[in-house]
Amino acid sequence: MRTKEQLRVITAYNPENQLDHNLIKLSENENIYGCSPNVIEAIKKITNLHIYPDSSASELKKALSSYHGVKTSDLFIGNGSDELIRLLSRAFICSGDEAIMAEVTFPRYRTNVIIEGGIPVCVPLENGKHDLPAMANKLSSRTKIMFICNPNNPTGTVVTKEELTRFIQQIPKEVLIILDEAYEEYVTSQDFLQGIPFVSQYPNLVVLRTFSKMYGLASLRVGYGIMNPLIIEALEKVRDVFNVSTIAQQAALAALEDENFKLECKVKNDHIRKIVERRLLEESIVFYPTQSNFIMIQTGLNGSFVTRELKKIGYSVRSGEFLGHPNWIRVAFGTLEDMDKILGLLLRLMKKRGEYTEYTSRRISME
Ligand SMILES: Cc1ncc(COP(=O)(O)O)c(C=O)c1O
Repeated sequence: MRTKEQLRVITAYNPENQLDHNLIKLSENENIYGCSPNVIEAIKKITNLHIYPDSSASELKKALSSYHGVKTSDLFIGNGSDELIRLLSRAFICSGDEAIMAEVTFPRYRTNVIIEGGIPVCVPLENGKHDLPAMANKLSSRTKIMFICNPNNPTGTVVTKEELTRFIQQIPKEVLIILDEAYEEYVTSQDFLQGIPFVSQYPNLVVLRTFSKMYGLASLRVGYGIMNPLIIEALEKVRDVFNVSTIAQQAALAALEDENFKLECKVKNDHIRKIVERRLLEESIVFYPTQSNFIMIQTGLNGSFVTRELKKIGYSVRSGEFLGHPNWIRVAFGTLEDMDKILGLLLRLMKKRGEYTEYTSRRISME
């Protein structure tokens, strides 16, 4: 038996963090506030589990179409935005084709491109941000896709309106631009450009969104893309017929209606983000300014070591070792109490290893 040659360079996802239910999980950027109570009520009302789901997710498309002010024919619903990344790669990448992406970004772009026999062309970040001019410079006759993750996972950074507008205008129409906005709902910066209004003008632009983050439906697997119907026509050919379950469709509908829940999550996240960033600045600890529900912190210590130490006090976070930043960690924002404990331990570890010489035994308070 022989698998595809390209699988040799792919590492399977390590589910280790998912299994330990005794830990507070801040490793996958999920919503710590759960989901809207409306979702639970909607799910309880579902009775037709013996019937296959609506293959075209028409009710959800209709709701998203009025929510975003786009046509239903511009919407594709997927089994998480992960599925959209996979299907777009499947539909567009042939052997030897190139896909340009940031060197440190959401790893599924690279994985899916490789599986299809394509070549990921990875461009270093600039201060944790996508370097869009450098990415545009990598265009070649083999380029099929440009992936832009905005805000970027794992760094949480965003590109400016001007940078992104110039980039979208500059890329030839034959090259697909996939703008992954999985964390858009958390953004508070005034200098953030939403991709959706540009889709009608740029037929090569795909905007990805998900119900897994702010909406808190990660376990139900539902994401969507807004794009030109010609791209959707291709995706329809490569997708599974019943890709989004009835429960996921009904839950997403209920979640979409609850603006209050989203607003509360956004306000709480922003409050904690500002306190954590201020605290890190005060302690002269390096981090990337984030527009998301997670933050990347430079500890100066091996990320996996720090991750193990944090597990001992009950927290699961992501080591930067597997994210191209060996001495960093990525932490989703927990409560203020959680962040207080995490930063407290970090400072103690950094002091012990001489990484943090200015440490003044001050109690670390997040208030
Ligand atoms: C940037 C980004 N895009 C896409 C996804 C996939 O999300 P889902 O498949 O749950 O919609 C994630 C998940 O972490 C992500 O961080």
